[in-house]
Amino acid sequence: MNSWRIPLFLLLILFIFCESVVRTSYGNWNIQRIGDRNTPSFLIDESNRQFLLDGLPFRYISGSIHYFRIPRDRWDERLSKVRALGFNAIQYYIPWNTHELEEGNYDFSGILDFAEFSSLAFHKFNLWTILRIGPYICGEWENGGLPAWLLNKNVTKQRSSDPIFTREVEKWFETLLPRIKPILRKNGGPVLMLQIENEYGSYDACDKQYLRFLRDLTRAHVGDDVLLFTTDGSAENLLNCGTVEGVFSTIDFGPTDNTKQIEENFKIQRKFAPNGPSVNSEYYPGWLALWGQKKQELPSIQTIIKGAQSMYSLGASINFYMIHGGTNFGFWNGAEAEAPCITSYDYTAPISEAGDITGNYLEIRKWVKGLPDWSTPPLDVPGNSPKARYGKIKMRLVHSVEKLNNMIDMSELSDAGDCVDSDKPMSFETLNHPLGLVAYQARIDSCGNLTIPSFGDFVYVYLNGKYIDTLTRRYYNLSRNSVIIEGCRNDGEDRLFLLVENQGRKTFQTINDRKGILSDVFINNEAIRFWTQCGIKLPLQETENYYLRKAGKKNQRKFMNNNQKQGVFVGVLPVDARADTWLDTTGWGKGIVIVNGRNIGRYWPTEGPQMTLYIPAEFLKVGENLVMIVELQGAEDACTSTSACIADFIDYPIFHFDK
Ligand SMILES: *[C@@H]1O[C@H](CO)[C@@H](O)[C@H](O)[C@H]1NC(C)=O
Ligand SMILES: *[C@@H]1O[C@H](CO)[C@@H](O)[C@H](O)[C@H]1NC(C)=O
Ligand SMILES: *[C@@H]1O[C@H](CO)[C@@H](O)[C@H](O)[C@H]1NC(C)=O
Repeated sequence: MNSWRIPLFLLLILFIFCESVVRTSYGNWNIQRIGDRNTPSFLIDESNRQFLLDGLPFRYISGSIHYFRIPRDRWDERLSKVRALGFNAIQYYIPWNTHELEEGNYDFSGILDFAEFSSLAFHKFNLWTILRIGPYICGEWENGGLPAWLLNKNVTKQRSSDPIFTREVEKWFETLLPRIKPILRKNGGPVLMLQIENEYGSYDACDKQYLRFLRDLTRAHVGDDVLLFTTDGSAENLLNCGTVEGVFSTIDFGPTDNTKQIEENFKIQRKFAPNGPSVNSEYYPGWLALWGQKKQELPSIQTIIKGAQSMYSLGASINFYMIHGGTNFGFWNGAEAEAPCITSYDYTAPISEAGDITGNYLEIRKWVKGLPDWSTPPLDVPGNSPKARYGKIKMRLVHSVEKLNNMIDMSELSDAGDCVDSDKPMSFETLNHPLGLVAYQARIDSCGNLTIPSFGDFVYVYLNGKYIDTLTRRYYNLSRNSVIIEGCRNDGEDRLFLLVENQGRKTFQTINDRKGILSDVFINNEAIRFWTQCGIKLPLQETENYYLRKAGKKNQRKFMNNNQKQGVFVGVLPVDARADTWLDTTGWGKGIVIVNGRNIGRYWPTEGPQMTLYIPAEFLKVGENLVMIVELQGAEDACTSTSACIADFIDYPIFHFDK
């Protein structure tokens, strides 16, 4: 062999080697990338059971933080606090229903601009993104993130390979995934890997064909060189149904002092991901709360740190769920079987709902600081935002809840509802009014036993403008679907008014959670015919001036029949310097608060534990702020006279749990 031939031969081999594609269990990668630090990539090195980021060994300590639960202007503040912990990544879901509230009408702007959220996290704070694309997310979010309009589609089983369902997922991913592609690591962006579905093994479908469909659909959009993963509870039966070949399996579990248990958990993960790194995708430093919840049992900070240290020592990557919870503004809270989730998603997370540093935050930061080989040590602890105690303002009753309807005698409010007439009552879904409130109205011939066999969730019953009672589908062990109504005039003009409240669709197990009146309505076993139903638009933005004038009026309207302190109350909050504040709802009944045309969420202090509603500084303005309270149940001690109630703005949150 001539001397020059040898290098050429080697070069040729090298060339073939470089061009060849490595096939691993989790996708295809060009080997050149693996060794090249300058070419962005994220994958699993199966021989060493580790992640490789741009060709180098990598692990993460990350925190879940949801862009859609944080005011847009506060993303920066909250992300800076995640970075200051010494974490190197964030993890978040994408809620399909919020991006596509109305079918075919997509929104990725403002608070929904997740690409901007990841970009900010990456460019300003060096935080990578671990992205959970759904389509189902749970997340204690309305309907687990699935659009309510799917319920109009004759889907036999959601989250399955039912072709009607998968066709809708195809359409959604066609819109979503091209927005993710440019921010993937392989394209120079911060997104390392994509989670499909969520804890699918906990769902009763166990439909592998569906998981294969999601895998293949995702790959078709982003390429087969992007790492996909699943997350399931750390039990073999859950992983059996939640995992699928070619997709990396991770697990989730909460804090424990029991190191053996943690080792066992990762052993179970390894059965399904034999050559992958250990990952806990949801490690819980806190927990959510439901309305009416009396007790909260949380792990001690010692247990949280001990568990984290055990996982770290085993070489695991760890995601804290949540590192910062935020708020279910508007009508976006989900529900569990026994009760709805509260408005706050504080989650007792290390960064509080208002973005404040907690004791747990400082302990976790100290722990990260002590990790000898950790490459992104903590930064200085950022300060907390200013808080204001604006004090008490007078809230005046403007009109009854009935007038939220089509506002018959208020021409200025003509656009307040979308009304439809029908023979039988229609559901929220059929009305295409998925969230909040729908008013139902009918004439009745006689009084008697009013029964509604099927509805969701609460029905406020009125006869001729007078409140009678509330029906409840199910709230813990409370359930009531009939009431005796009396006081009919029997002139053929007796008016039955039913205000129905959706208090959040279930997030888990049941995802065919329809709302509104779902059956006939009977009086003495006779079905009522001819209904007018109006989806109530809240907030009533276009009516702000009307309400501001009302709020300033001197002569006040007295409370209605029986001194029922129900209806729409308005007040003006003067602000000279904007700061975060909380509305203390103590003494009110149950309802919704709107500040300057923004729905800041539901309150229910008679149930608790949440007594205050968080109002970020950005929702206020210097000058007059319009505060509206839609009181559904009847205010109590908040009302000081026969015509006015009090709203008190304080500088700290209150949650009442029994000790
Ligand atoms: C769903 O099924 C019902 C009854 O079979 C039918 O009337 C309706 O048109 C179907 N809806 C859709 C969207 O296919
Ligand atoms: C409902 O639950 C409450 C609180 O747990 C209990 O005191 C009450 O007895 C229960 N009522 C029924 C009818 O089970
Ligand atoms: C009304 O009628 C329903 C159905 O017949 C019955 O179950 C219920 O107990 C009655 N309600 C009242 C309050 O009498």
